[in-house]
Amino acid sequence: MKTNPSRYTITAALPYTNGPIHIGHLAGVYVPADIYARYQRLQQRDVAFICGSDEHGVAIPMRAKKEGVSPQEIIDKYHALIKDSFEEFGISFDNYSRTSSPVHHETASNFFRKMYEEGLFTEKVTEQLYDEEAQQFLADRFVVGACPKCGYEESYGDQCERCGTSHNATDLIDPKSTITGNVPVLKETKHWFLPLDQYEGFLKEWILKDHKKDWKSNVYGQCKSWIDDGLRPRAVTRDLDWGIPVPVEGAEGKVLYVWFDAPIGYISSTKEWAEREGKDWEQYWKDEDTKLLHFIGKDNIVFHCIIFPSMLKAEGSYVLPDNVPANEFMNLEGNKISTSKNWAVWLHEYLKEFPNQQDVLRYVLTANAPESKDNDFTWSDFQARNNNELVAIFGNFINRVVVLTHKYYDGKVPAPANFAEIDVQTLKELAAYPDVIASSIERYRFREAQQQLMNVARLGNKYLADEEPWKTIKTDEERTKTVMFTALQIATALAVLSEPFLPFTSTKLKKILNIDSDAFNNLSWNTITSSSHSEGLKDILPPGHTINKADLLFSKIEDETISQQLEKLKKTKMDNAAEKETAKNIVPQKGTIQFDDFTKLDMRIGTILEAEKMPKADRLLVLKVDTGIDTRTIVSGIAESFSPEEIIGKKVTVLVNLAPRKLRGVESQGMILMTETADGKLRFVNPDGEGIENGAAIN
Ligand code: 2FM
Ligand code: ZN
Repeated sequence: MKTNPSRYTITAALPYTNGPIHIGHLAGVYVPADIYARYQRLQQRDVAFICGSDEHGVAIPMRAKKEGVSPQEIIDKYHALIKDSFEEFGISFDNYSRTSSPVHHETASNFFRKMYEEGLFTEKVTEQLYDEEAQQFLADRFVVGACPKCGYEESYGDQCERCGTSHNATDLIDPKSTITGNVPVLKETKHWFLPLDQYEGFLKEWILKDHKKDWKSNVYGQCKSWIDDGLRPRAVTRDLDWGIPVPVEGAEGKVLYVWFDAPIGYISSTKEWAEREGKDWEQYWKDEDTKLLHFIGKDNIVFHCIIFPSMLKAEGSYVLPDNVPANEFMNLEGNKISTSKNWAVWLHEYLKEFPNQQDVLRYVLTANAPESKDNDFTWSDFQARNNNELVAIFGNFINRVVVLTHKYYDGKVPAPANFAEIDVQTLKELAAYPDVIASSIERYRFREAQQQLMNVARLGNKYLADEEPWKTIKTDEERTKTVMFTALQIATALAVLSEPFLPFTSTKLKKILNIDSDAFNNLSWNTITSSSHSEGLKDILPPGHTINKADLLFSKIEDETISQQLEKLKKTKMDNAAEKETAKNIVPQKGTIQFDDFTKLDMRIGTILEAEKMPKADRLLVLKVDTGIDTRTIVSGIAESFSPEEIIGKKVTVLVNLAPRKLRGVESQGMILMTETADGKLRFVNPDGEGIENGAAIN
């Protein structure tokens, strides 16, 4: 572990641009990464906080197909939406790029080419899964089957979502195409493989020996299990038409595997930033004194701890990650967050429904962060943490201090008189917090760090409750000044220390305390530690300084607001259940036919001229139909859905070349095409266009 590096390269997983982002993303990756980056900046450290959109891979064309638009439209739409959500939530990336950018295509291609030229890939023709109907090779999300490691039946071709293991698509048990549902066949194709087996020795040394103690146990444990199981070569190219073309000869129609190019996206995004800022990107990736950190969710561990480091090691000129602080998952009201089931709190919706309350969500997601196990987000907890913690502890303390300062001293920080033992103790305690919070952040324990931040507000509340300046103001003016001075120092410390966690609140509080000007530039994390010590009791907020009027930092969230959110989720559940029910009623697709089979059917538009019940047959009507070719008799099983009178004159579709057959002694010379409603009522398949004459053919 690097303890005092010259710079920090902090990456946050590049989100796929196949949908908007939700609270699970924020809780798992972006809020912890942002707290870390903001904290390091406050320590005056050199930070590059890097992210961008992951715009390749099968997830994109799949979404495009679902929305009926092109992949380019999908990435443009979601890149903009995601980027905007991050900005709105104060995720302070130094650069947010996208993997469709020219700089990324070039960087990823060069990376591949260099490894290729140095003979670091194995080029092999192997049998891969192929969907004959879709005429496409099946990789990644285009195929599902049972995971060879844990047996999960919906594992993707490259990775199992349940156990996190990465595998080759051909390892899946009972694979099925997600495009057609067909069982794939095997077909030969050429690919380039990263021989992971050759990196086992390196990974054992690097992770199992060097990082046993400082990596999170969930991350270390998974890596150990994969390495112990033995690693196998993994293809880093794909037969797909969406992605970065493989930049070598003989690779036409092939693209880089998304998990080969995406992590290189961190490098290209750094390049983009460095170019803009006039910095040297290589220092942030190649200098040994750089601390490289990857913030990710648990499903990305294998790629950031096994595959990408092996690529970096193979390429040879890069530093390796110092840590990969992966989080577990955040659930929502007891169920797994799911984009396809719309079971999520979407950030763009939250922003509309809770305007200017980004910090509340940041706070709740950190308080409940899934740091060592999956956790649950509930709306009632959201309300309780806002009302009982942010409003009642943090907001209440600040409000009391600011209001009393205005009431007693016209908003001027009073000069303290003699410090009593309790004041000295309180200021000493305050001075210890920056280190305590820092230590938790440095160990990626953001929940613990935020609890300590709230303890600063608790310290302030307790101090005021014990010293009761609202009483002493009547009896001892000097004492009151010392108490209010001390309370104002605590408020100032809160303004500084809350910045990584609650950036909007911190800004607002700095405004209230009137410390947002250049004159207070020196006020930083360490000022609080070095001030307020028993020996000096230096002022972080000096006597005579005038503060601004109180402004509410947090406001109570009412039951009604929470009920609306719960209603929204209830509706989603009902919609999902209804959809499932409908899906159950959909008859599975029949076997494939050839075009010639279809052209044998002769279907025409006709009009029902006469209709009468078939004697002694409840379901049958005998119809006379003008088909445009002739007028013929058709016996149809529609009597339970229509009375004879109501269908006379109806336009219908008739299969006219069906072999005649006798029903109850009447020869039926064709068939009327029908469909059925969900509750079993028959409906005609009839033309909706004006001017369609009887006899018009259906092609
Ligand atoms: O899981 C995901 O959403 C991926 N798009 C993360 C990529 S991280 C990095 F390697 F780019
Ligand atoms: Zn599995």
